[in-house]
Parts: sequence; structure tokens; C-alpha cells
Amino acid sequence: MSLSMLPTLETARLRLRPYRESDIAELLPLIGAREVAATTLRIPHPYTEQNAKDFLVLIQDPGRIWLAVSLRSDGCQIGGMGLTVDLQHQHAELGYWLGVAHWGKGYVTEAAREMLRYGFEDLHLHRIFASHFKHNPASGRVLRKLGMRHEGCQRQHLHKWDQFVDSELYGILRQEWQLSREVHE
Ligand SMILES: CC(C)(COP(=O)(O)OP(=O)(O)OC[C@H]1O[C@@H](n2cnc3c(N)ncnc32)[C@H](O)[C@@H]1OP(=O)(O)O)[C@@H](O)C(=O)NCCC(=O)NCCS
Repeated sequence: MSLSMLPTLETARLRLRPYRESDIAELLPLIGAREVAATTLRIPHPYTEQNAKDFLVLIQDPGRIWLAVSLRSDGCQIGGMGLTVDLQHQHAELGYWLGVAHWGKGYVTEAAREMLRYGFEDLHLHRIFASHFKHNPASGRVLRKLGMRHEGCQRQHLHKWDQFVDSELYGILRQEWQLSREVHE
């Protein structure tokens, strides 16, 4: 498994491609919305230019495959998606966010399907998992649409904005992903 080169991935409507320094101006108003920070663990709010610069440094770590999600039609950024890979266990955590104006159009499901394909087919991962705050049912719906299985609720596992919140864990194994592809082909 090689993590040396970040990929550019394409779906019918979207392009997932490596971030560059010049993305920051377009990124800030999207990721800076309170609604985006409210249901994510690691996006600070307010989100500053320095936060974006720190993020670009963080994702130079070869295990963090974070890509900008953009529209193929006009190249505009609409969100971000990533796999944080643990080579020892051949597993990765999937994470994602989308600018508020783009919610509800199936974009995250479309992008994440391709990310799963990349993880299992190109990186030969054994398992991909993700978790969401209990108060973010849209994300749970995305994970189920991806074929992930609900593996449990980690009660008050996380501390977010002065409250302990439940975290719902989902996962899919390589074999399950392959089977689901065969069914749909
Ligand atoms: C959660 C989020 C990623 C969803 O992205 P999206 O592109 O709108 O998702 P999709 O359109 O692919 O799918 C959303 C699904 O959730 C459903 N949904 C939306 N709101 C819902 C709610 N309150 N309860 C249950 N389901 C809901 C939609 O109907 C859709 O399902 P459907 O296709 O069966 O109709 C997006 O809202 C977001 O970025 N939120 C802020 C950041 C975040 O929460 N990131 C995830 C952290 S775990």
C-alpha cells in the first residue's frame, strides 16, 4: 500500500483533488459557517486563515488523505473529504463536510462512494469506519447509504461546545464492500 501520492478522483458531478495554498480564500467562507462546525469534531469556529494554513500543514502527513471536493462543472470548491489511514491495521477513518448551500443534493454520498472505492481498491484497505454525533442524523443516513453497518453508540464519548455528546460508530469491511458492488453490477 503506498500513500506517497495524493489522488485526484472523479465522479459524475464531482472532482476530489489535493488542496493547494491558493484554495484558502474560497475555503474560508465555506468551512467557516457555524452549521458546519456544529456537527464536526475537528473544525474550529470561528475558522481563521491560520486554521486553514495549519490544516494544509497537517494534511502533509502521508496518512491523511484529505481532498478538496469541487464541482466538475465550474471547478468551485464545495467541501472536503478525507481518509485517515492507519497502515498497521489497514483501516481508515472517513470524514467529510460540505458548505451549507450544497447540502441535500447527494454530493457527500456521491463523493464518499468514490472514496470508499479508492480506499478498498487502490489502497487495499481492510476496513473503513466513520462516526457522527447523535444529533447529526443526515450523516448517519449518508453512512447507511454507503453500505456501512451501525456498530454501536459510544455514549457521551466526545466533548463538543461544553457538552458531552454521543458518537455513533459505523464501519464496512472490504469483503462487504466487494459483495455490495457485485450486487449492484
Ligand atoms: C451531513 C452532511 C455531510 C450531509 O451531506 P449531503 O451532501 O447533504 O448528504 P447527501 O445529500 O448525500 O445525503 C443526506 C441524506 O440525509 C438525509 N437527511 C437530511 N437531513 C436529515 C435529518 N435531519 N434526519 C435524517 N435524514 C436526513 C437526506 O434526506 C439524505 O438522504 P436521502 O438521500 O435518503 O434522502 C452535510 O450536511 C454536512 O456537511 N454537514 C456539516 C458537517 C458534518 O456534519 N459533517 C459530518 C460529520 S460526521
